This record gives sequence, structure tokens and C-alpha cells, in this order.
Amino acid sequence: MVTLVPLAGCAGQAPSALDPAGAGAQRVEGLWWLLFWISVVVFVEVMALLAWALIFRRGGRTRVRHSQPLRFVTIAGAGLPLVILVAVYGVSLRDLAALGTDPGRDAPTVEVTGHQWWWEVRYEGVAGATANEIHIPVGERVRVRLRTADVLHSFWVPQLMPKTDLIAGETRETWLHADRAGQYRGQCAEYCGLQHAHMALMVIAVPRPEFDARLARLAAPARAPSTDAERRGQQAFVQGTCAACHTVRGTGAQGRVGPDLSDVGSRWSIGAGAVPNDAGHLGGWIANPQTVKPGNQMPPQPVDAARLPDLIAYLRSLG
Ligand code: CUA
Repeated sequence: MVTLVPLAGCAGQAPSALDPAGAGAQRVEGLWWLLFWISVVVFVEVMALLAWALIFRRGGRTRVRHSQPLRFVTIAGAGLPLVILVAVYGVSLRDLAALGTDPGRDAPTVEVTGHQWWWEVRYEGVAGATANEIHIPVGERVRVRLRTADVLHSFWVPQLMPKTDLIAGETRETWLHADRAGQYRGQCAEYCGLQHAHMALMVIAVPRPEFDARLARLAAPARAPSTDAERRGQQAFVQGTCAACHTVRGTGAQGRVGPDLSDVGSRWSIGAGAVPNDAGHLGGWIANPQTVKPGNQMPPQPVDAARLPDLIAYLRSLG
């Protein structure tokens, strides 16, 4: 218990399912502690019996005479485990049913598609897309519809909900609920190739008006460039190779292979948790994404060195 308390406090970069911030994760935490304490009691009991047997049977002489050994073995060895397992099974079924309930017809729906190795995020009824970031309104259940574009992935936000696998050809549903505002890191929890570890996401729980404003921004064109450098950057982006794979809403760049970059400047990271989102890492990523996140789908870019600062300025302005 003493050693587990510090672990439970490791939020943020290393979120713990033992530090729940929403209804789904609270169910999981309850089950975890139930199994933990049952295990402790059973372990202590078995060790006590073992000690008792070793002490009283030393020397090969049996000093203990159990009046009814068969009854003892039946009750302690079969009956008690059966009762415990049936009880735990019952609690698990109750929690599974609670986790599987529909979040309600009016719940906002976010559509998440797993890619090697990033998360495409769209909201039902909203045209725009974003990546590796899911905004949800605090205190409300949000339906999450999960698909994969390639291999198996697993969507997991330890502080909010249990793992849900993304299976090719299927649409899975779960829900997110956060009872306080904040950022909750999620992670792909199914090995999906070289950069499985760099397939993180951030769930950002905000008050309802902020959530509505966020959806409105996703529906609108991206911010227009306001300086000369940003304008040159936009031109380089739209006319260069970037536009073949990426979208920036309201421009000629409408590629669908890579993440939509219309709000890339405000995102929490570059490369789904690979590196921080700042000008230096962005420049490094554009020049050669393979050094930052080897194996990802974006090839090194033949960017004119003189244009790189403009491209960085433009992308940093999108947010
Ligand atoms: Cu996607 Cu692991």
C-alpha cells in the first residue's frame, strides 16, 4: 500500500489507472483494488498454513491430528476459491455492463481512426479533422467511435477509461468522461509496429462553452497568414510536396494521407508524442521526419533551406 501510493500519484506523462478522473476509470480502479485485497488475504492465509505445516511436521512426525482432513480440503481448497471466483465474476459482469452502457442519444460523438502511428480525430457533424488530441466537455459522456486504417491498435486513456481495441473492418464504440478539467494522456496499448510507443494522444477536458468554440474552429477554415514570412510559408506548403499528403482547411492543400494540419501550431506534441511542439523540433521534423520517428510514413522532404523558416512560421501560426 505504501509503495503503491506514490505510483498512484504519477499523473501527466505517466498516467495511472489508479488515479482515475472519470466514471469509466473509477470502475476499473474499484475492480483493481478488490482483486488486490483478495490476493493479499489469500496470500497471507496460504503463507500462514505453509508456516504452520512446516513447524508442526518437522522431523517427519505428524503431531497434528486433523479430525476431518477431507472436509478441510473441500472447504478451504475448493469451496472458498469457488465463492471468491464467482463473486469476482459477478462484480466484473456488473462493471462490464456499466462500461458498455450507451452514453445517450444527445452525447457528442468523436470518431477516432488509428493509423500507423497517429490518431485521426473527427467530430460527428463537423467537417474538419485534427490529430492526436480529443477535446471533451467536462462532466459529460462523449461517445467514441473507433476504427483502424491499417493494423490493430488499442485506445487507452488510463485515467478516464479502459482499453478498447481497434479492429480492422469493425467499428467499436466506447465513451469518455472526465469529472474535472485537465489533460489526460492516452496511449496505443496494442503493439502495432516500430513506433507503437510513439502513438500517444491527449484528451483535453474543458468547460462546455470552450468545447463548443473548439468545434466551431474545427468547422471553419484555418487561420490565414498575417505576416510576409507566414504568407511565403503558406505558398511553399500549398505548392510544394506537403499538400500531397496534408490538409490545411481553406487552402489548396487537401491531402488525406497524413494528419490534417489546420491547427498544428496549438497541438501538444509533434509525431503523436514523439517530440515537443516547438519551432526547433518542427524544423527538424520537416527536414527529416525519419530521424525523429524512424519508420513513419513521411519521407524526408526536399525543402529549400531558405524556405524552411517560412514554413515553420506558417505552421506555428496555425492554431
Ligand atoms: Cu498503435 Cu500500438
